[in-house]
Amino acid sequence: MSQSPAHEGLEGVVAARTALSEVDGQAGRLIIRGYAVEDLAYRAGFEDVVHLLLDGFFDDLPSDLAPALGAARVRVFAEVAALDETLARRDPVEAVRALVARLPDGEGLDVALLLIAAPAVFTPAVLRIAAGQPPVAPDPALPHAADVLRMTRGAAAAAGEARALDAYLATVCDHGLNASTFAARVVASTRAGLTSAVLAGLSALKGPLHGGAPGPVIEMLDAIGTADKAEAWISAALDRGDRLMGFGHRIYRVRDPRADALKAALRQLVQVSGAAPGRLALAEAVEQAALRILRERKPGRPLDTNVEFYTALLLETLGLPPASFTAVFAMGRTAGWIAHAREQRATGKLIRPQSVYVGPRTKAAA
Ligand code: CMC
Repeated sequence: MSQSPAHEGLEGVVAARTALSEVDGQAGRLIIRGYAVEDLAYRAGFEDVVHLLLDGFFDDLPSDLAPALGAARVRVFAEVAALDETLARRDPVEAVRALVARLPDGEGLDVALLLIAAPAVFTPAVLRIAAGQPPVAPDPALPHAADVLRMTRGAAAAAGEARALDAYLATVCDHGLNASTFAARVVASTRAGLTSAVLAGLSALKGPLHGGAPGPVIEMLDAIGTADKAEAWISAALDRGDRLMGFGHRIYRVRDPRADALKAALRQLVQVSGAAPGRLALAEAVEQAALRILRERKPGRPLDTNVEFYTALLLETLGLPPASFTAVFAMGRTAGWIAHAREQRATGKLIRPQSVYVGPRTKAAA
């Protein structure tokens, strides 16, 4: 059989032009519509970041998005009635996906805002119903991140906690042509509608090589337990052929800038929330051991910390269960999927690459 000339994993292939975000893998820089991600994380609220992403894609986009997004949370909460205990006990991202699939398809701002509100409203409801608690209705007057924590806990979160979740959602809102965004663009290119594009994005996000990584980061920290066991545990995992979750990236050959943005947000959160600093110290020791061992074992492949490592710590400190981390990621990334879907749609071009046939050429029918 001849060697396939295909670009496996589309590595190095440029498949879209985008004005939304630039991922510079050599410099370790992420620019979102002209702003460095670190600046967005600290200086803009999530609603402002959503506005930044959607700007130019909808003629009726209001200058202040907060009231419209609050109203969308209230509207989408009606779908929670369809959530029974069986569905709520599934992997939260699967339950959220099932509820998103109930939303109408379309191209308008009304559909876009429902979709952005959906994971923010559905994830807390899924967690509460799975725990035998009634869901909490949204408060449209609250900022988006503060409302997510209130709907999850049934009580208002401290300002510092809401600020940390807000910084997280802004940090993960968009990231070039990652797997879920590409999936969303492929579906958008068929003109199927924004809900279909978001469902494709959610499905791609779920995998452990993409948005499913932070839950296993917590499992790794729990399994390691204390800093002195980090080296042995990591070495044994790599001996088994396992990948270390929260490390490595297709594009970054240096540290993922989002890891630093989230680490800074986590430090502030630990201070204001009074969380035990021991967990952060353990994570830092595990990170250092992992980087050292990865350098030794993969000298030809720079592998550094990615966004998921400190995502896991930040969301854990906020009291969110690891099983929900992918669904929480979707709360931020849905805005990016929608902006990319609209951008792709504007090109008018169907995404339809080719494959190289490597099966038998001719077989005689029996
Ligand atoms: N742990 C151990 N080895 C690794 C890791 C890792 N985390 N990442 C890559 N490698 C090795 C891999 O085994 C391979 O080694 P070899 O050449 O000897 O077979 C080499 O590095 C290249 O790996 P690759 O799979 O060809 O590289 P990729 O660009 O396809 O991988 C990745 C990118 C993110 C899938 C990978 O680094 C990985 O699996 N990381 C762990 C999962 C994770 O943290 N995912 C979140 C990514 S960041 C959020 C997002 O944007 O999705």
